[in-house]
Amino acid sequence: MRPLIFAANWKMHHAPAAATAFAARFLSLTEPLPYRTLWFFPPAVSLDALVLATGGRPDVNVGAQNIYWEPKGAFTGEVSATMVAECGGRGALVGHSERRHVFGEQDDATARKVRALLQQDLTPMLCVGEKLDEREAGRTEAVVGRQLDAVLGTLTAAEAGRLLVAYEPVWAIGTGKVAQPADASAVHAFIRRRLADHGVAGRVPVLYGGSVSAANVAGLLAQPEIDGVLVGGASLDADAWAGLAATAAAE
Ligand code: PGA
Repeated sequence: MRPLIFAANWKMHHAPAAATAFAARFLSLTEPLPYRTLWFFPPAVSLDALVLATGGRPDVNVGAQNIYWEPKGAFTGEVSATMVAECGGRGALVGHSERRHVFGEQDDATARKVRALLQQDLTPMLCVGEKLDEREAGRTEAVVGRQLDAVLGTLTAAEAGRLLVAYEPVWAIGTGKVAQPADASAVHAFIRRRLADHGVAGRVPVLYGGSVSAANVAGLLAQPEIDGVLVGGASLDADAWAGLAATAAAE
């Protein structure tokens, strides 16, 4: 079995009590599998509760959905990488499309956040992806390449080798329009070439995200270039998420 990563992005769902109840149910339905790594990205207020509720499971990692790059200070509303580490978080999403396109996050901010996480020995899951008009204009590789270069240009090859990358075409997120496995795979291969251009040795896991469901996950993971999935809507129910991760892992 090749290694697979199943990552749940809960977005603005599951406050602490719901997160704790989810964990109890999910853990009762699953057991550690040698080839499977699980990530949960709850809202920041639920980070502590979810770390506590999943603490005994070595296959489960909890991370933040976003961080600010300064360690502390007068930055109202923000959470730092040091705070995530102190809560027992092991990483964070960076550059999710909702951060980029709803909240206006720019490439240079994404790069600073990645660096702040690495400095705390946390794992950044760098999200990249093109919008529909960009895809239709044939600019997918230009956009994804720009998003990657903004981060990779600030890192050593060894640092870049500690990333996880999630390819999430913006037009596929929350829309029910999943990318065709072969199309996603082609972008994953492009991402790998770009990582290699920056001198990254070894295999950085590249996950696919965007309307992943129990119905389509097996087809996506059948692509050798796709190392896992980053899932929003289909990760919100413990039974469904346990089932999705188990079905796909059996492929
Ligand atoms: P979705 O979200 O699975 O609901 O499309 C994925 C994501 O935004 O990470």
